[in-house]
Amino acid sequence: RHPGPDGARGLRFSPVAPNTDDKVTVPAGYTQDVVIRWGDPILRGAPAFHPDRQSARAQAGQFGYNNDFLSLLPLRGERGRQVLVANHEYTDEVLMFRGYDPENPTREQVEIAWAAHGLSVVVVQEEHRSGRLTPVPRHRLNRRLTATSLFKVTGPAAGSPLLRTSADPTGTRVLGTLNNCAGGETPWGTTLHGEENFNQYFANGSSATDRRYGIGAGASERKWERFDKRFDVAREPNESHRFGWVVELDPYDPDWTPRKRTALGRFKHEAAQPRLTDDGRPVVYMGDDERFDYFYKFVSSRRMKRGDSRAAREHNRTLLDEGTLYVAKLSGDSPQEVDGSGRLPADGEFDGSGVWIPLATGDVSHVPGMTADEVYVFTRAAADKVGATKMDRPEDVEPSPRTGRVYVALTNNTDRGKPGKPGADEANPRNANKHGQILELAENWDDPTSDGFAWRLFLVAGDPKDPSTYFAGFPKEKVSPISCPDNVAFDPHGNLWISTDGNKLGSHDGLFGVATHGERRGELKQFLTVPTGAETCGPVIQERRVLVAVQHPGEVDGASVEKPASTWPDGPGRLVRPAVVAVWRRDGRDIGV
Ligand code: FEO
Ligand code: CA
Ligand code: CA
Ligand code: CA
Repeated sequence: RHPGPDGARGLRFSPVAPNTDDKVTVPAGYTQDVVIRWGDPILRGAPAFHPDRQSARAQAGQFGYNNDFLSLLPLRGERGRQVLVANHEYTDEVLMFRGYDPENPTREQVEIAWAAHGLSVVVVQEEHRSGRLTPVPRHRLNRRLTATSLFKVTGPAAGSPLLRTSADPTGTRVLGTLNNCAGGETPWGTTLHGEENFNQYFANGSSATDRRYGIGAGASERKWERFDKRFDVAREPNESHRFGWVVELDPYDPDWTPRKRTALGRFKHEAAQPRLTDDGRPVVYMGDDERFDYFYKFVSSRRMKRGDSRAAREHNRTLLDEGTLYVAKLSGDSPQEVDGSGRLPADGEFDGSGVWIPLATGDVSHVPGMTADEVYVFTRAAADKVGATKMDRPEDVEPSPRTGRVYVALTNNTDRGKPGKPGADEANPRNANKHGQILELAENWDDPTSDGFAWRLFLVAGDPKDPSTYFAGFPKEKVSPISCPDNVAFDPHGNLWISTDGNKLGSHDGLFGVATHGERRGELKQFLTVPTGAETCGPVIQERRVLVAVQHPGEVDGASVEKPASTWPDGPGRLVRPAVVAVWRRDGRDIGV
């Protein structure tokens, strides 16, 4: 037998070369296919997608736009089936509607966009002896949640005057979830969804907190405020406070109203990924994706109940409502040697220690001058006050199921070191940082409730020929170039997989695998690339398949339905459509072994 490619177990494939092909490129010996596209019907009564017969009603029963986070969960009792959960981060109206006029959107277009946001739950069927997955339309678990579905607000800030509006004087019932970026899976079978750049949907911001959250003073990009006054901050000042939360969804319980969990704070939540303490309490790690924003954790005070009983399920769906919210402050052990160039310090590593600064516990604020409600609703302001470390855009985060070490993708920060902006520090060691880095965090005594941790940079991304890059000390001539890490996931072998958004090295975005332990630690290999204009999201790495969300294909300046920049996935003359893609080995064996 001809020896195959070498590499760590799970990463034995021939790396894909950087490229700009308008397609999904996978390693030799692998194949791929679309699982589901924007507009594919999933609910009873939803029509097949037709580019010129779109309606809000149709879209509300179809798979949403711009798939981002993906979760693939087991479905007991139904052989060969799994439950796919997807985030739909935002809409690209110029690529959705023929002749779209950004200055004058129609009510129908706006209502379609509302229905194309949110979350999808869709059961998928495995094909025998391959990685292919096909949707099961009209399954009883299939579900769409959109910008107009009901969400309940829970936790310590629920009902706060800061969350009350004219439509909801209780401050506990919100219509919709917006800009769901990455997310996470809980050990009790629910999914978490970060509401990220919610600011873009709101017009006429004016307060200091509006500005801190990026809500602009004028009209919003999509002009939704013309069709629903709740998007006009001047008329409904608290509506924006009802977005920017972590949402918890139970994909197995279609009757359960999803929750916005105020105990986890309000910011541009990229993602939220729990691990359990030895005594069964969840600890959730979370990034706030903005230049110079922060990295957080939430430690629950309640223990998870094991088992599948109704009582256990109901109890576990309250775990994220009570606990302590912390923000991270990092110190380097060689700070005087960090000059912003990315040159390694004399001790050979960007590394140091950190502390978790408590912000609030239940109704008790730990931040002088702020009430607990204010800490939860204006979490960024609370973290500013306590001197948390300003990071290079914290994106997705993933604790290793094997080692407990937490990996944080810091995607880039081109403003680092600019006049009037913070300069490099040991955790964010490059000024004008175009390519980003991945930080590895180890809680003291491996206790996720610890108030301190050790950290080091695992990867400093870029072209390996660039002296400012670092691949955990692995020989750089043997690794793939990588730029702008965004989503992270673990495979069954303990390797970290990284998808990218905004590659600045001239290639399309892609997906990479890297060993985190053993002698191949740091050996990074590219597994796939995505079509023109797309970012790679939501990787799920199973034994037999890799799943990615191809988000915003064809999103290139000046592109439109009439002038497409991409013809993926259906070829010329068809609308470009964001889609979920499965990749598997032609010989049916496991990925990368
Ligand atoms: Fe939606 Fe931070 O990526
Ligand atoms: Ca050091
Ligand atoms: Ca992202
Ligand atoms: Ca991103």
